[in-house]
Amino acid sequence: MILPNFCVFEGIDGTGTTTQIRELERRCREVAIPSWFTCEPTNGEIGRLIRRALSGEMPYSGDTMTRLFAADRGEHVWGIGGISDHLAAGELVVTDRYFFSSIAYQGSAGDRDLPFAANAGFPLPELLFFFDLDPDRAMDRVEGRGGDLEIYEKREFQKRVRDRYLEILPLFAENEPAMRVVTVDASLPIGEIAEIIWSETRKLPIFKR
Ligand code: TYD
Repeated sequence: MILPNFCVFEGIDGTGTTTQIRELERRCREVAIPSWFTCEPTNGEIGRLIRRALSGEMPYSGDTMTRLFAADRGEHVWGIGGISDHLAAGELVVTDRYFFSSIAYQGSAGDRDLPFAANAGFPLPELLFFFDLDPDRAMDRVEGRGGDLEIYEKREFQKRVRDRYLEILPLFAENEPAMRVVTVDASLPIGEIAEIIWSETRKLPIFKR
């Protein structure tokens, strides 16, 4: 099932999705489009547990990580005040990461099938941006931020994750032609990317009311 006016940003770490989402949020506010901007892992209890695991503080098995992300997502989509509530209220919903992250990351870290099984019931977005960047450049950005690295922020791993995204996204696009997948060259200047995002997002039905 595809949820109209639901938009997802995906990519390996360091591709700049967060910066672009903030800019999109600013523009939506400027033109008074009712919208909800959110992210995964969420700020809920399960999301906070995941963040502790990502920091390396609590080493869970790969399968447990898959299940935790899926549980967090269940609340994110169907919980009170979650994605479906906001869409039902007639808002644009934009999330920084969704189940494609689980298929790419958890599918690269361990069992490839469990991430598909654990996420089979989630609805698809109408629009998906995939931020693509050479993993070495992306990791240079991540390391350049300073601070501690998370468990997945390793060059070799990020290369595998990117390959996995490139493998799976065309399959989703093929099976679900109503889901628009836009690959963004994340090496372009920030302003240019913002224009691409804006022109693609404005094709969503909420902008035509
Ligand atoms: P990220 O968007 O990078 O958050 P932040 O910018 O706050 O660090 O997400 C955190 C990490 O979680 C990132 O490395 C991707 C990973 N992740 C998964 O492995 N599976 C998932 O299902 C999701 C949503 C994220």
